[in-house]
Amino acid sequence: MKVVLGVSGGIAAYKACELLRLFTESGHEVRVVPTREALKFVGAPTWAALSGNPVSAEVWDDVHEVPHVRIGKGADLVVVAPATADVLARAAHGLAGDLLTNTLLTATCPVVFAPAMHTEMWQHPATRANVATLRERGAVVIDPAVGRLTGADTGPGRLPDPAEIFQVCLRVLRGRPLDLAGRKIVISAGGTREAIDPVRFIGNRSSGLQGYALARTAVARGAEVTLVAANTTLPDPAGAKVVRVESTAELREAVLEASAGADAVVMAAAVADFRPATRQDSKIKKTDGEPEPILLTKNPDILAELGERRRAARDAQAGAEAPGVIVGFAAETDDVLANGQAKLARKGCDLLVVNQVGEGLAFGTPDNAATVLVAGGEPVEVPFGPKEDLADVVWDLVAARIS
Ligand code: CTP
Repeated sequence: MKVVLGVSGGIAAYKACELLRLFTESGHEVRVVPTREALKFVGAPTWAALSGNPVSAEVWDDVHEVPHVRIGKGADLVVVAPATADVLARAAHGLAGDLLTNTLLTATCPVVFAPAMHTEMWQHPATRANVATLRERGAVVIDPAVGRLTGADTGPGRLPDPAEIFQVCLRVLRGRPLDLAGRKIVISAGGTREAIDPVRFIGNRSSGLQGYALARTAVARGAEVTLVAANTTLPDPAGAKVVRVESTAELREAVLEASAGADAVVMAAAVADFRPATRQDSKIKKTDGEPEPILLTKNPDILAELGERRRAARDAQAGAEAPGVIVGFAAETDDVLANGQAKLARKGCDLLVVNQVGEGLAFGTPDNAATVLVAGGEPVEVPFGPKEDLADVVWDLVAARIS
């Protein structure tokens, strides 16, 4: 496929080199069109060497080839990364003062913008309006990631990871629909920890990889994602709002708050079923005799509560306050399908992703195999593969249920 990589003048321009490599190494023909300002950060020889194509920011080079029209018209995809506030403004208003903005005006293919700028610039009403205009016209504008910016400041405005931008582009290139565009989706990930005393806890082995894969793929399909992350060490997925929690009580509060009016809630977190009945305020010291037993008490079942809330809301015909589609996960060691079917019914969810655990399966690995049980439908087998593939199967089923 013919990809135009537009690069505008932000410090994140150096990260576009990695995006360029991802495209070229997967066989795409890339033409880099930087702005003049981008060339102050990364020079033309770098783009030319990495892409194997000539590089210019001007409409006045190779005029006989009419590059200001030809490049845009011949592209299968234009991706601008990083997209500065300035280039978003120029694109939204149809200005054409350089080769990149000419290309944006002549391109008839899909266009993806990956903005990167300081938080104040991203949140400025002018930028908000320009982003809204571009989205209305059908461009995909990826929300920036939250994190460290150029200086010591942090906030929304960081360029998403090149691998994440690449995934969005692949989806757009393959013509796969942004079928979750505008949908509000809540995902829990990781594993909760229940404090025994200020230094000890009861926890579990969940890495959060599956929940994060769900978040990344949902963003790539256009969703507005809230990721409630329990004790994970993974980088924030770009474009998702991340709420960090530790205990089941905190996870419950965050999930219930975010899920009011959500189109779907996916409970991928491994939630502790029990917690110590009392939390000691001081560290428990070794004593000469046997230690005191730790009494456990039951935690609320958040997934079941979501199901209850939806039932109650539907009975009261106030469905907007309850999540539309509810997805649970189940890790089983024996009688996987029978246990899964019983859990699906007991917890009142629409889909239940059942993993067989043990023998190094599921926990902490990038790959997974699962069966997705569907309320009132046939189970869907997902063969062993990347957690993103399983996530996409879940979103296919969720998207069908939402619509
Ligand atoms: N879950 C939850 N709240 C809990 C426990 C689990 O919301 N207190 C959710 C998990 O996020 C997961 C699903 O319920 O989506 C299945 O969890 P699991 O622990 O397997 O279910 P249990 O009902 O506890 O079944 P069992 O322990 O008998 O396997």
